[in-house]
Amino acid sequence: MKNVEFNRHRRLRNSDSVRRMVRETHVRADDLIYPIFVTEGEGVKNEVNSMPGVYQWSLDLVDAEVEEVAALGIPSIIVFGVPDVKDEVGTSAYHDHGIVQKAIRQIKSNYPDLTVIADTCLCQFTDHGHCGVIEGGKILNDPTLDLLAKTAVSQAEAGADIIAPSNMMDGFVAAIRHGLDEAGYHDVPIMAYSVKYASAFYGPFRDAAHSSPKFGDRKTYQMDPANRLEALREAQSDVEEGADFLIVKPALSYLDVIREVKDHSGYPVVAYNVSGEYSMVKAASQNGWVDEKAIVLEKMTSMKRAGADLILTYHAKDVARWLQETK
Ligand code: PBG
Repeated sequence: MKNVEFNRHRRLRNSDSVRRMVRETHVRADDLIYPIFVTEGEGVKNEVNSMPGVYQWSLDLVDAEVEEVAALGIPSIIVFGVPDVKDEVGTSAYHDHGIVQKAIRQIKSNYPDLTVIADTCLCQFTDHGHCGVIEGGKILNDPTLDLLAKTAVSQAEAGADIIAPSNMMDGFVAAIRHGLDEAGYHDVPIMAYSVKYASAFYGPFRDAAHSSPKFGDRKTYQMDPANRLEALREAQSDVEEGADFLIVKPALSYLDVIREVKDHSGYPVVAYNVSGEYSMVKAASQNGWVDEKAIVLEKMTSMKRAGADLILTYHAKDVARWLQETK
């Protein structure tokens, strides 16, 4: 080739140290949020079939898991409850001695420095498995809001540092903010599942949390995967209603949405790397088809590059460990 000018991009890829110097995106243990499933009973450490490495824990054993998370330098966990009693209106979601409330009390008293996030929803606690009050086969919006606010307040009373409502009723952030403020919890932030799609990637979670809807689906409250502008409207409403963090969920098929929400909101954006995304990598790596560590770290980097400030992921402990190894 003669006299053709071109740019030499490879100069900046010449060595590991140069690559490190020009790297634009970094994943840190501080970015991670680790989900923990808590359940009633004693001596329970049940591995979730479709999620190798993820367990349902009874409270007498769960401290071992929390200890591991804290020791790895992960700053926060999100608690999901798997209750033993369910009813029509999800009473055990807002009961003072509900499984989530008990777990938060215990974890906060043993690990006061760990940030404990409470998932605030009804589907694990209702016998029909939907995220709201039902009448005539319909999921009612406004009557559900009071129950969500009650749930959030009871979680804050138990010591939750952050409330994470995942239920996708309209006005859920406003109702919860109002409830928290009225109860004196002005300082408890809301990490809203602002953009939550009606996704097939939640399948394994529903095994873990026993929260599948008994009839129909969640398409009247969770979003159509085809929609992008709607995500911006949802995020904007939640900001107006008082959200402090915005979750986009799932993450990997929605990296474009993470970027848009990041560019339009000015609030910390959380990518929820959901159960199905986890299980696919686990299954493929157990078969020896992919290199788990490389794949997972690449996925984490992609979510950060897309604009996520934080990543809620079942891979969090592994990621924190791998980051320590490569230091
Ligand atoms: C409850 C809830 C769900 C998830 C988190 N909170 C399930 C759902 O909406 O059906 C899914 C998380 C995952 O798949 O990892 N509303």
